[in-house]
Amino acid sequence: MIGDLHHVGIAVADLDVALAKYRSMGFAVGSPETVESEGVRIAFVMEGDTRLELLESLRPDGVIATFIEKRGEGMHHVAFSVPDIRKAMADLRTKGFEVIDEEPRRGHGGRLVAFVHPRSLHGVLLELVQA
Ligand code: CO
Repeated sequence: MIGDLHHVGIAVADLDVALAKYRSMGFAVGSPETVESEGVRIAFVMEGDTRLELLESLRPDGVIATFIEKRGEGMHHVAFSVPDIRKAMADLRTKGFEVIDEEPRRGHGGRLVAFVHPRSLHGVLLELVQA
């Protein structure tokens, strides 16, 4: 039901500053993308099949801005690929996980995504990404 790790999401205060830092470490850096529905500007940094998603808030009251205000910059979520996101959401609900989204939403690159509440998973916000 759950596939490979798709990416780890990192909340950053300034995406361009963070991208420059990862670039200097030797990571390949993807083009920044605005995901208006999530109130974020994101970019992926990559090494082989391994990806980090850097997320910057578009608004001072956005979820990423609120996260940084409370906890500082750093790890925000982990994302796993699933072949069928609606099936994965239903399976997790049946097993008692708190799936935040009623329906999958359009995330980065137009992919269907949904989130599981950290209350359900030992403090980890889990993102499902339909591969
Ligand atoms: Co993500």
